[in-house]
Amino acid sequence: MEKITLSVIKADVGGYVGHSSVHPALLEKAKETLAGARSGLLVDYHVTHVGDDINLVMTHHQGTDNEEIHKLAWDTFLACTGEAKKLKLYGAGQDLLADAFSGNVKGMGPGVAEMEFVERPSEPIIIFMADKTEPGAWNLPLYKIFADPFNTIGLVIDPKAHAGFKFEVHDLIEHKKVTFSCPEELYDLLIFIGAPGRYCIKSIYSKTTGDIAATSSTQRLNLMAGRYVGKDDPVCIVRAQSGLPAVGEVLEPFAHPHLVAGWMRGSHHGPLMPCGVDHATPTRFDGPPRVIGLGFQLANGKLVGPQDFFADQAYDEARREANLIANYVRTLGPFEPHRLPLDEMEYTTMPDVMKKLAGRFEPA
Ligand code: 13P
Ligand code: 13P
Ligand code: MG
Ligand code: MG
Repeated sequence: MEKITLSVIKADVGGYVGHSSVHPALLEKAKETLAGARSGLLVDYHVTHVGDDINLVMTHHQGTDNEEIHKLAWDTFLACTGEAKKLKLYGAGQDLLADAFSGNVKGMGPGVAEMEFVERPSEPIIIFMADKTEPGAWNLPLYKIFADPFNTIGLVIDPKAHAGFKFEVHDLIEHKKVTFSCPEELYDLLIFIGAPGRYCIKSIYSKTTGDIAATSSTQRLNLMAGRYVGKDDPVCIVRAQSGLPAVGEVLEPFAHPHLVAGWMRGSHHGPLMPCGVDHATPTRFDGPPRVIGLGFQLANGKLVGPQDFFADQAYDEARREANLIANYVRTLGPFEPHRLPLDEMEYTTMPDVMKKLAGRFEPA
């Protein structure tokens, strides 16, 4: 059976205004570049943005980690960077760490989530895209969707979901991976994914069918670049229904905003606010961090959609709750736990301050 590949590749190549959004000229340029791809390369595509990140959603038959697809994404971001430079947008080319494409965009700046599968008779998919946060932001919602019966009743009453799911977890510091079979190994899983700055859920598989159910981007730009170059605003693909969580079960964790790392200067904890694409423009203190969720039905690789899920009024209360949490944590100003712990700070004056005060430190 022929397989389809779904690739979501994203980058921030210049913010409008500051780090708040993407200028329409860049989205146009991205669409134009993908439309100009060689005939037969893509089956379909959709261009969107969350905050200052451009997201390219592409379907094709080239498989994951395909050089031609990655080069197309790279060239698209380069073309958008050209527009960004003309308009003097903020941080033009921010996420493109290399001068020239070298076979795969992983490690070059852009974030990547890809999966290859046989399209089911009906194939509902949801793509989550976030700004002002990091890949570990998906740990809590993915846990709830695929392991928590209080979120996903399908784990209890759907015979095809009852066996549970396998979670592939990556250690982003030591570059190792480990797979947990749940529900048996839930507690082992949680000790790791409860530390989302280091351990991230990369992919999830159905234990009933072996099929891939979810995958996320796990690039950490600052770790790759070795200096502050923006947050690693992540993306995540989830397949739904027919033995997998229902669409509403996939969306449910976002009804309560959880705290994520990111926000102002990539250095603060704040609530992840679900919103529609039209409201995916971080403002207050460059936030709060945003997440959009776009639904598509795949039809022979065609992206039928999107359905802009979080634009719905059912998420009004989540937005209100996020604003209340934002009000509260902002009162802490430069104090932890609003500010990230020292080892996670993206921008920090600590080394310079330490140098300046070196002679004044005495044994205590
Ligand atoms: P339908 O009966 O509308 O298909 O819904 C089933 C379901 O899974 C709802 O979550
Ligand atoms: P981005 O990572 O979204 O570019 O945000 C950077 C920042 O410094 C926000 O305050
Ligand atoms: Mg930016
Ligand atoms: Mg961003």
